[in-house]
Amino acid sequence: MYLSIFIILICLAIIISTLFFYLKNGIASTPSTIAVFKALQAHLPNQINGHILEAGAGFGGIAFWLAKKYPYNTVYAIENAWVPFIILWCRKKIQYRSNLQIKCKNINTISFRNTGLVYAFLCQKGMKTLQKQLEKTNHLPCCLISNYFQLPKSQIYDYTLQIKKYTTFSLYFYYFIVYSLESYHLI
Ligand SMILES: C[S@@+](CC[C@H](N)C(=O)[O-])C[C@H]1O[C@@H](n2cnc3c(N)ncnc32)[C@H](O)[C@@H]1O
Repeated sequence: MYLSIFIILICLAIIISTLFFYLKNGIASTPSTIAVFKALQAHLPNQINGHILEAGAGFGGIAFWLAKKYPYNTVYAIENAWVPFIILWCRKKIQYRSNLQIKCKNINTISFRNTGLVYAFLCQKGMKTLQKQLEKTNHLPCCLISNYFQLPKSQIYDYTLQIKKYTTFSLYFYYFIVYSLESYHLI
């Protein structure tokens, strides 16, 4: 009896939290597809200068993959929704990667300082937030890869854009070359 109530309460908490963060973030924790991994494998450079950051890491598929691909870079997986974050946390305990750091934070509170590569699969609103944070806090030449959604136009950054179009999705590669002069905050 108590066990059933406990299970029902856990299920309710999962449903409410998932709905809450879906409405707050404007996107569910849908993982990137295998085709995206293949496209990334084909287009990512062999070396990255600086940290790697996944903005909205979901269940961590891309972050774990990036941590394996770039063992000498620190990879930050940022996720604010509790359910995917708990899964991410458990996954890190099982599938340990010393260069992977997971943070339960909103991307509008983190710094992109020393970041050389950002991967994002966010909604339009999330991309705007990401752009603001990049403008405020990054100071390295940086490649931002966005799955599906484009970055709004920016007056602070100067960047070149490449679009890799596939049948089911598009990846947008932004290469930032000018950065903001505002003060930085550590992650
Ligand atoms: C479509 S999923 C992508 C998951 C993963 N990046 C991938 O490509 O497999 C987007 C994730 O970003 C998270 N997210 C959206 N806005 C966020 C924000 N402002 N701060 C942190 N995480 C956010 C969502 O909770 C969701 O888990």
